[in-house]
Amino acid sequence: MGYSGGVSVSNFIFSGCDTVELAKKYGTPLYVMSEDHIRERCGEIKRDFINKYPKTKAVYASKAFLTKEMARIIKSEGLGMDVVSGGELYTAIKADFPMEDVIFHGNNKTKDELTLAIKNNVGRIVVDYVEELDLIEEIAKEYNKRMKILLRINPGLDIQTHKYIQTGQKDSKFGIPLDNIYEVLEKTFSLKYIDLLGFHFHLGSQILDNESYIMAVRIMADIMKNAKGKYGFVTKELNTGGGYGIPYTEEAGKDLNYFTDPIINEVDKNCVEYNLERPLVIIEPGRWIVGEAGITLYTIGNIKKIPKLKTYVSVDGGMLDNPRPSLYGAKYQAVLANKINEPANNTVTIAGKYCESGDILIWDLRLPKVESGDILVVFTTGAYNYSMSSNYNRIPRPAVVMLSQGKDRVIVKRETYEDIIRNDI
Ligand code: LLP
Repeated sequence: MGYSGGVSVSNFIFSGCDTVELAKKYGTPLYVMSEDHIRERCGEIKRDFINKYPKTKAVYASKAFLTKEMARIIKSEGLGMDVVSGGELYTAIKADFPMEDVIFHGNNKTKDELTLAIKNNVGRIVVDYVEELDLIEEIAKEYNKRMKILLRINPGLDIQTHKYIQTGQKDSKFGIPLDNIYEVLEKTFSLKYIDLLGFHFHLGSQILDNESYIMAVRIMADIMKNAKGKYGFVTKELNTGGGYGIPYTEEAGKDLNYFTDPIINEVDKNCVEYNLERPLVIIEPGRWIVGEAGITLYTIGNIKKIPKLKTYVSVDGGMLDNPRPSLYGAKYQAVLANKINEPANNTVTIAGKYCESGDILIWDLRLPKVESGDILVVFTTGAYNYSMSSNYNRIPRPAVVMLSQGKDRVIVKRETYEDIIRNDI
């Protein structure tokens, strides 16, 4: 991941840039993203999935990290985009993202959001519950458009990940329960402004095994078989969701094919067995594309030694820019950017600066001797950090700097106190 390796450079180098210099130039906390890394991941998707298998498509799950510049990068890589809100959709529109390549998700899309999607000719709407069909039909009729949809199926599978980021288990707010599918299908066929293309499932996030995908494909194949048998419906598209896990601390990294080969093989196998035409297979990874492309830089301030207990090292950010440790107990790895060659022989706890005891970024981190003013680099913060950040305690959000071939540029400006009071009356 860009460790300099050499002894002559003592600062941590990320994507060709000196992180201590970046901290000086832009201030901290600072989100830093590597465009090179993002493009590398998109390249892998094209090489190992889209070009490897016929009838495949990949969309980027933009909830992981979205700005106008990110939308432009995804567009230039030729991937589609998954959005889950009017705000994500609006960002895509404003970045001139091709709307036919946008998939609109959500378990409770509002009428306004659906109207924005329909007016702008969004490529697919993924329907989460039966009454949503009526709402889409009503709006589509008003605009005289026939909307392409997929039905999100809840396959009822418990996968191994944090329970807050499981989505495909039976007891879930997401998707159509297996027991209701045929009733929903019949309703779908009765509507004039709705064109059903197929099915979607999403099992959860930060998944590190591929077996649950295989099981889900079998369940979907069964639905495809029955839909054909009962109604003569030919499934044209099967969207297998995202969720591919990445290494944060000790986990082993998985390449794309670890997930996608078994998915494709299982779809092919089942289609042959049931005599079905193989549908277009869609994947929608978010974290896998951007997670490792991001780091966050902080400056160390307060160092509090509690005798015989522990040392709290406070940084100038915390749970506002990275809520994942406090929300999910997520673990992160970090180093001191300005002491990269010094031995890490102290154990400290990295605390944030906000008014919550739960505002801890890293428990029991091994670092060299820490001093106020040192720069801490937390790794793997590209996904679900900036996108889940908040203004608690009325703190402005950090800037986002994008690195490309050794050059840095701001893609999101640092918020100011003026931004904080902008909408106050
Ligand atoms: N497709 C759908 C329908 C989704 O709901 C999600 C994520 C994805 C794709 C992309 O999942 P990914 O490939 O990024 O795992 N805030 C949580 C993660 C929530 C994920 C929600 N849905 C976290 O920080 O771990």
